[in-house]
Amino acid sequence: MSEEKKITKVPVYTPDKSYKDFRWMGDYEKIYRESVENPEKFWEGIAKELDWEKKWDNVLEWNYPDAKWFSGAKLNITCNCLDRHVNNSRKNKVALIWRGDDGSERIFTYRQLYREVMRFANGLKKLGIKKGDRICFYMPFVPEHIISILACARIGAVHTIVYAGFGAESLHQRIVNSESKLVITADVSIRRGKRIDLKSIVDEAIVNAPSVERVIVYRRTKPDIELYTEMELDYYELIKDEKPHCDPEIMDAEDPLFILYTSGTTGAPKGILHTCAGYMLGSYYSTKYVFDIKESDVHWCTADPGWITGHSYVVYGPLQAGATILFTETTPDYPDPGVWWEIVEEFGVTILYTAPTAIRMFMKFGSEWPDKYNLESLRVLGSVGEPLNPEAFEWFYRVIGKEKLPIVDTWWQTETGMHMITTLVGEPMKPGFVGKPLPGVVADVVDKTGNPVPPETAGRLVIKTPWPSMMRGIWGSREIYEKYWSEINGYYTVGDMAVKDKDGYIMIIGRADDVIIVAGHNIGTAEVESALVAHEAVAEAAVIGVPDPLKGNLIKAFLILRNGYSGSEKLANELKYHVRMTLGPISMPAEINFMETLPKTRSGKIMRRVLKAQDMGVDPGDLSTMED
Ligand code: WT7
Repeated sequence: MSEEKKITKVPVYTPDKSYKDFRWMGDYEKIYRESVENPEKFWEGIAKELDWEKKWDNVLEWNYPDAKWFSGAKLNITCNCLDRHVNNSRKNKVALIWRGDDGSERIFTYRQLYREVMRFANGLKKLGIKKGDRICFYMPFVPEHIISILACARIGAVHTIVYAGFGAESLHQRIVNSESKLVITADVSIRRGKRIDLKSIVDEAIVNAPSVERVIVYRRTKPDIELYTEMELDYYELIKDEKPHCDPEIMDAEDPLFILYTSGTTGAPKGILHTCAGYMLGSYYSTKYVFDIKESDVHWCTADPGWITGHSYVVYGPLQAGATILFTETTPDYPDPGVWWEIVEEFGVTILYTAPTAIRMFMKFGSEWPDKYNLESLRVLGSVGEPLNPEAFEWFYRVIGKEKLPIVDTWWQTETGMHMITTLVGEPMKPGFVGKPLPGVVADVVDKTGNPVPPETAGRLVIKTPWPSMMRGIWGSREIYEKYWSEINGYYTVGDMAVKDKDGYIMIIGRADDVIIVAGHNIGTAEVESALVAHEAVAEAAVIGVPDPLKGNLIKAFLILRNGYSGSEKLANELKYHVRMTLGPISMPAEINFMETLPKTRSGKIMRRVLKAQDMGVDPGDLSTMED
């Protein structure tokens, strides 16, 4: 299985001398060694930087494959995001800066944010929402989104945030699986000057979802859409008489904080469960030390809160650090392809954290756009979601970073809750490599049996020991959770293929399973296939990812039609639209091919790798198990 992977010589960039002061805590090698020799001492040291209602009895209780971190502790994550800043000199400091699609602005100080969160928390209590109840969010990226997330955590309810680009069926599955009592949404989201109706998608998604008692609607456009008052409530109506103080629900360390769904290798999305203390620690630690964040920073993570990146690095991490958070509803090319750089200049953004697919899009627009603006405020750049290819790294480094800023290419997952592997600020960077594991993280590249592979050999990426923000379970499936820890020698199996160089730098090659990463979003082949066969014309479907210079991968679908249907461009368009409406635009196939047969194993499994090889015109490899 291990295959040699020759690494062509890569340039090494050593950050500008002035950045040597960034080196967090000092010498990486020394701190790393200490952190793995005595992990409990290491994590306890970080935990002491935060506020707790009651300190822990034990740092870690590891009962394979279940971890309890900081058991005995009592806390509420919002106390570290809000109270601790409001109670000191950060009270009137700007917490949130929001920029709308039309250029409008809304700004909240920590004090103002605190008050809005407390009012909404009281509103939720008035509706009878209690600790442990699930609340599903389907919101545009506006301040009310962040406020309501924090309010949910304040009262100990469990948030499950669904990206507002998902379709009605995807939303329905998540509401039903999490048994959400409440859905929080808005009338519309606004993109490129157009209104996108969210409320009617919620209407469709809550049919046959008996857990849902109420829907709260933030009405942002005029005239107000009508609400069905038996079930629906206006956001501002709910809080209009509420007080701006609400005591935090005191949570146990292992109480659930949120569920976030991610695509897996089966048709159903997996509800990744994160718990209070460990997630609080992981999001804080990684934000502070990977971005080198200070309270003077203006931190812009371009992800939506519907993804884990938004959870950890828009909301929880930077707020715990007391920084100023910038977030926007803008698209990168509207009103023109200079808008992001205009925002960086206008608001003095210091940390910019984005995705390779966006960087490649900006490369295509050309350097003339960023060159029009003053980007001198920037001091750290970051990337996440899929491999940052060397060409994109070079462009980001030269055009945006002016050949002196550090780039942190952060590898992690919904399941890990926090960054796991990256080149830390101040360390030498190698384009194409994410870097080395963070202190406290024991990552390795191994073969099927768990033995480390030699340098420059492809293998599977694993994490060998527990870490505080690891997922604690899959909502409703013990079996899937156990699988993560049982496939390779009791290690946490990541699902990615990787390779290490002689210095221990790790390069991510891609997924080892049936997950396709399109523009940084995980799409399960099975999910798209089941949406396709749900259409009356389709008998069988197979989808594959093929490389694309902009989006990383594109989805191609191969279909066998039912009797009585024949392939046409019209049907292909109809099928694409069907997937778009059920799963959302990110899951839509770019191309549909109608087939007479599909390559299968003798046991009837579709051989996607054969389709992929045929499509790319390369050798399909071993065909001995294929049926005739
Ligand atoms: C998968 C996890 C973590 C937030 C966004 C995605 C891929 C993630 C990188 C990176 C290469 C990366 C992996 C991983 N991935 N970051 N820096 N370089 N690949 O979270 O949706 O849970 O996806 O994204 O394949 O397993 P997610």
